[in-house]
Amino acid sequence: MNKKFLNLGIQPLANSFLKSNSKKTLAKEFFYNLEVSFDTDSYLVSVTNPVNPKLQYTDKYAHRASESITMRESFKKIADKLKKKYSPNTVMEIGSNDGVFIRNFPKNKILAVEPCKNLANLTKYKYKTFPNFWNKRLANQIFLKSKKADIIFSANTISHIPNLKETFDAIELSLSDNGVLVIEDPSIHAVIKNNSYDQFYDEHVYVFSAIAMANIVKKSNLRLFDAEQLTTHGGSMRYYICKDLAKHKITKKIKLIFKKEKKAKLNKLLTYLEFSKRVKKSKHKLVEIFKKLKNKNKNIISYGATYKSSTIFNYCKIGKKFINYVTDTTLNKQGKFTPGQHIPIISPQEGMNVRVDYAFLGAWNFKKEILKKEKEFIKRGGKFITHVPLPKIISK
Ligand code: TYD
Repeated sequence: MNKKFLNLGIQPLANSFLKSNSKKTLAKEFFYNLEVSFDTDSYLVSVTNPVNPKLQYTDKYAHRASESITMRESFKKIADKLKKKYSPNTVMEIGSNDGVFIRNFPKNKILAVEPCKNLANLTKYKYKTFPNFWNKRLANQIFLKSKKADIIFSANTISHIPNLKETFDAIELSLSDNGVLVIEDPSIHAVIKNNSYDQFYDEHVYVFSAIAMANIVKKSNLRLFDAEQLTTHGGSMRYYICKDLAKHKITKKIKLIFKKEKKAKLNKLLTYLEFSKRVKKSKHKLVEIFKKLKNKNKNIISYGATYKSSTIFNYCKIGKKFINYVTDTTLNKQGKFTPGQHIPIISPQEGMNVRVDYAFLGAWNFKKEILKKEKEFIKRGGKFITHVPLPKIISK
């Protein structure tokens, strides 16, 4: 049974950066109530009322996975590993974004699926790219002409698709007999540990655990046989899934992960109810930090116009009163305004100047990369603010 445990209030679409802050533009902004539920049967954590994907994955989709060195390196590493381990003939990626994963393969091996037309346009000249939503119809269309896929890869995408049954059924009919589906998505275990409630936004319809993933794929005649914990996106899990009758044996590693997740009580509603209480406390503490700094007339900005920070700013009502602007390296976010709170977004070159006293880590998942990059800022006394695992000022 689906039980609601968290209410993050009225939220905009996390990727709906606004071109202007004119009254006319603001009047058209879309909002919905972001609530999160736990299914006591499958242990799946999901957004209670998902938004229609057609509103989200448009030809204006902002996120470019290759913007970060961390992600570029992570995708290169997994591509090399998959090539070595499975020697695949056909590799399909669901949600190929700007091609950050597929660029590691020769073009004759790749099939790419990307519903955001602006992104599909970036890869279509080199790789066979289908500018469509993933479903059974598309799977049938693709594999009418092509050999079944030995590897299906999907990072930070399956968690975005409301209809999981259709998604996995379509995957089941696209995989070769011993083919492997590799999925990466943020892990609910990490969310609970880090109190990173900002992993919930409209696109993250699901935040998986391994125990939930095993239950879900079973319904499509698939089985989870291995998994790896990852540090990307603030704590993710990489799942290895195959057909029921495939040769792959269940590994010790996945058994250990199941054990850990049960020990952390990820299969109990109470865990999520307690998390919800911690989220409220985190909000009050973060607002308190901003208020104190503003009372001292400090200049505060935010670092990284992330989707995650959209949840925080709208839930905590942190807006222009506290934050002068947000910096982001992504060209098509610069010059726009953040969803809901309408804070201007500018380039780091312009924004990380000597007037900045504090920078909120909107992209806290890249903390290491950012702290390394911003040595000058830190050297002259600039400080970062974070909310994970607890709201605080990072002093070094
Ligand atoms: P991402 O990690 O994908 O988070 P979300 O899924 O919540 O949007 O986005 C990171 C954003 O931060 C992206 O827009 C690029 C930006 N960014 C910077 O501006 N500077 C940096 O040094 C890094 C690492 C990221």
